[in-house]
Parts: sequence; structure tokens; C-alpha cells
Amino acid sequence: MFKKTPVAAGLAAFASIIIAGGCAVADAGKTGNVDYTAMTSQELAEYLIFEANGFNVDQEVQEGGTAKQRLVQDEMHKACSVIGGGKPDQATLDAVRTAAAASITYPEGGIQLGDWQKGRELAWSGFGYRIGHNPDDHGNRPVGGNCYNCHQLATDRTGGTVGPSLTGYGKTRGTSEAILKYAYDMIYNPHAYFPCTNMPRFGSSGFLTQDAIADIMAYMFDPESPVNE
Ligand code: HEC
Repeated sequence: MFKKTPVAAGLAAFASIIIAGGCAVADAGKTGNVDYTAMTSQELAEYLIFEANGFNVDQEVQEGGTAKQRLVQDEMHKACSVIGGGKPDQATLDAVRTAAAASITYPEGGIQLGDWQKGRELAWSGFGYRIGHNPDDHGNRPVGGNCYNCHQLATDRTGGTVGPSLTGYGKTRGTSEAILKYAYDMIYNPHAYFPCTNMPRFGSSGFLTQDAIADIMAYMFDPESPVNE
């Protein structure tokens, strides 16, 4: 395909990480005449970077601004990033936890469960806010939570193991006010309980609305939901 320079090889490796992370490949195995599934990861990365212009950091992103601006760390990222690796000190973790708790806002009528079927769609969907790929058409689909990518949920789809299994969540934990608040907080900003966690801040980042969180919570807690079979 292309002559390999060290820069191209490095970019290719970086792009494959972004692609794997966003699950773009699984969603769009074939685009136009291009069959991604017939390419090696190296070929795919080169195709996306050099031909499809998929790694264009000047492209506009869903929240406004460009992909390049997305790569700038916010205060939480900075606090949690320890040079050379490892965990931040306790004072930093406490500060991250406090800031996260303060970022959470609750629905006016209190925390309610929404529609588990809509929640299932959202928990399974990795749509929205993607970069490093052809920009999504944001007009026609709601932003998903991508929960299954890191969690096992119901047993009708294989989930990831980055986070703990949430199978049977409502059945085993019940639906007390305390557990509903905990789950809402975890989805809204999990750093309130696990400072510097790998789980995204779906509420405070603006990815999921309060209604979307209510639907995903119904998927986790509703006795009718396949999660609680
Ligand atoms: C990038 C991976 C990732 C994604 C995506 C993700 N989570 Fe998590 N989640 C985690 C990790 C990791 C933990 C464990 C916390 C820790 O140790 O940092 C966790 C913990 C949780 C917990 C607490 C579990 C318990 O034992 O009580 C809940 C609830 C939860 N996640 C729900 C969700 C929901 C709902 C979604 C989708 C909206 C989601 N997560 C998306 C990684 C993720």
C-alpha cells in the first residue's frame, strides 16, 4: 500500500488504538467499495489515515470545536495523569472525588427509572462523539453509552471485562433510593466514587442526558429487563 516511514508506522499504531477503542470497525465493516474486514490492521490504519483522511484532527466534533481541541487534557485528566505511570497521591484522589461529586446534577422530580428497551439500545450503542473515522451523522441517532464495551450486561450479548459484570444488577441490589443514587452518580460521574477511574463521565461530559441515564438505569434495574432475568 504505502511506503512505511517511522512516522506513518507510529500514526498507524495510534489509529488502530483509536479504532479499536471506538469500535468503529465493528459498526462499519463495509463502507462503499471498501471492505475493512479484508484488510490487516496495518492496512486499515493506513487506509483510514492516508486515503479516507479519517485521522484529520481539524475535523469538527459533535460537542463543538475540533478533534485537536478534544486531545487537550482537562483538569481531571491532568490530576490523574502521573508522569511515568502509577496512581496519584491521596490528596489528589480526594480532590478529584470532591470535584466529581460537585459536578453531578439530579432530575427535578428525583431519580426515576425510564424505559428499559430504550436503555438497552443506548447501553449497546457506541454511536456519537467518535473521531478518527468518518464523522457520524448526529442528526438521526441518539448518543449511546457504550456500556457493553466494558461491562457484561444481559447474557444475550457478550460484554467487556474492563469493568465489573452488571448482570443481574437490579435483582441482586434491589431498588432502594441509595442504590439508585449510587448508580445514577456512577453513570453521571464515576470519579465521585472511584477517583481517576477508566469509566467515562457520561453526565458531566454531556454525553448522556438525564433521560438517557434514566433509560439505561431501567435496563439495569427493571425486573422485566433481560439484565435481571
Ligand atoms: C471504558 C470502560 C467503561 C465504560 C464504557 C463504562 N464503564 Fe462502568 N465501570 C468501568 C470500571 C472500570 C468500573 C469499576 C470502577 C473502577 O474500579 O474504576 C465501572 C463501574 C461501574 C458501576 C459500579 C459497579 C458496582 O459494582 O456497583 C456501574 C453501575 C457502571 N460501571 C455502569 C456503567 C454504565 C451504565 C455504563 C454505560 C453508560 C458504563 N458503566 C460504561 C468501566 C466502564
